[in-house]
Amino acid sequence: MNVRSGFNTALTTLLLLTPLLMSRSSGALNPHLGSSLCPECHLTDQVSPDQARMLVTSQEKLCLKCHPKSTQASHPSGFMPLKTPPTPFPLDWKGELTCSSCHLIHGSVPGLLRSADRGAAFCHNCHAPSFFERMPDHGSSLVLSGHLAASRDDHPGVELDPFSLQCLSCHDEKNGNAPQRVGMRLDGLLRHGGSSGLSHPVGRPYDKATSFGGYHPQSRLPTAVALPDGKVGCISCHQGYTKNHGRLTVDNQGSALCLSCHDL
Ligand code: HEC
Ligand code: HEC
Ligand code: HEC
Ligand code: HEC
Ligand code: HEC
Ligand code: HEC
Ligand code: HEC
Repeated sequence: MNVRSGFNTALTTLLLLTPLLMSRSSGALNPHLGSSLCPECHLTDQVSPDQARMLVTSQEKLCLKCHPKSTQASHPSGFMPLKTPPTPFPLDWKGELTCSSCHLIHGSVPGLLRSADRGAAFCHNCHAPSFFERMPDHGSSLVLSGHLAASRDDHPGVELDPFSLQCLSCHDEKNGNAPQRVGMRLDGLLRHGGSSGLSHPVGRPYDKATSFGGYHPQSRLPTAVALPDGKVGCISCHQGYTKNHGRLTVDNQGSALCLSCHDL
């Protein structure tokens, strides 16, 4: 048996088995998974720590049922890392870094993280500080979480997607202290203050616009151009969870970014 399953076994015995058994007898696994049954994720409902890794499909699929935004503009998940992460972060049976590498699915601490570290300290378990220092915002937007989607909206005039809200928490000229500011008009017109001088609507449904013509169908957009909740938002034009903070999703030489949606 390898180190990973040894770790899982020890961890389970120490921390998890008791609450799991207790909650099974009371009918619910864990407040987090609600009334989900074991075989919705595991191959059997008699899950022992040894075969708990045998799941009916990938975690990126299992978890997305309830957390649909947790792989979009998020930390990469479901890939084989070049280097094995340090002890508290096990890879799955395929040797891949996935949700359960960072999260203790059946845990109970806030955030369900496998380490007590929070913020940059959590990330430094696997990344050298220099990894973040090279980023335009020194990683300040990423170390907050493994995912960009935010939930607090103080833009009452327009329904913004959760990724744009996260960007605006620093870049809105009303908030934050990032030197690069943008302004949001109440009707959803975004004004870039910097050298681009670009104004553009955000928070508007893309399919509504395509129905009037002048836009490529959604199915023909480059995959990098995201439409969170079906709307134009910051991550339609700017890359999400990336070391190239702020970089465009499509290089705009010859207005290529603009013309990936606009069909003139
Ligand atoms: C939403 C999916 C999901 C459901 C439902 C679920 N599990 Fe899990 N469980 C997981 C994942 C993912 C892991 C981590 C697998 C790995 O380490 O590769 C896990 C791990 C475990 C482990 C190993 C210890 C640990 O926490 O890593 C046990 C034991 C376990 N589950 C028992 C259960 C039992 C018993 C039920 C039903 C009462 C259940 N699980 C329901 C997803 C689920
Ligand atoms: C049946 C729906 C459901 C599934 C499936 C599900 N979750 Fe959740 N999850 C929830 C709900 C609801 C909450 C928020 C309420 C709570 O924390 O109890 C939550 C909260 C979380 C949190 C945040 C906890 C906190 O304290 O902030 C994490 C992390 C998380 N889930 C990870 C996962 C992972 C990883 C998987 C896949 C193995 C998964 N969830 C599958 C429903 C689900
Ligand atoms: C590299 C580590 C890492 C990976 C991989 C990862 N997460 Fe997270 N996740 C985090 C961190 C850090 C937080 C913030 C936790 C906190 O401080 O409360 C978080 C928060 C969450 C939350 C609660 C907040 C929110 O954004 O809704 C959910 C749900 C969640 N993760 C689900 C997932 C799922 C599902 C996967 C796999 C598809 C996944 N995570 C993969 C690190 C990770
Ligand atoms: C369990 C180990 C682990 C943890 C914890 C972790 N990462 Fe990663 N991360 C990786 C691995 C492995 C890669 C892929 C290889 C690489 O680029 O170093 C990666 C890639 C990335 C990327 C590259 C995305 C891209 O392609 O541009 C970013 C950005 C990132 N991590 C940020 C973070 C942040 C921020 C945190 C803390 C919230 C964090 N990581 C926590 C292991 C981890
Ligand atoms: C935690 C605060 C924070 C958040 C959240 C944040 N940024 Fe930034 N951003 C910064 C800082 C700081 C800079 C560096 C400003 C400078 O050097 O003038 C920056 C720079 C930028 C730049 C200019 C990059 C360059 O190379 O000059 C762009 C574009 C940008 N951010 C877009 C975004 C987008 C899009 C989001 C959401 C996906 C976002 N930012 C979220 C803090 C943040
Ligand atoms: C329709 C596409 C589009 C959308 C949507 C968009 N941007 Fe931009 N953004 C651009 C372009 C193009 C530039 C110029 C980049 C360059 O010249 O490299 C830019 C530049 C920036 C800059 C750098 C300084 C400046 O003002 O020129 C910041 C900061 C920025 N955007 C933030 C945001 C934020 C935050 C959002 C969401 C609220 C957003 N952008 C939405 C296309 C967009
Ligand atoms: C993600 C797709 C997308 C990209 C990329 C994009 N646009 Fe748009 N644009 C739209 C949509 C959708 C609307 C209509 C929004 C609405 O319903 O008002 C729009 C509206 C506009 C308008 C207002 C037109 C009007 O009559 O309402 C202008 C001007 C514009 N875009 C210019 C640009 C420029 C310049 C770029 C490149 C920097 C760009 N767009 C990139 C999707 C996009």
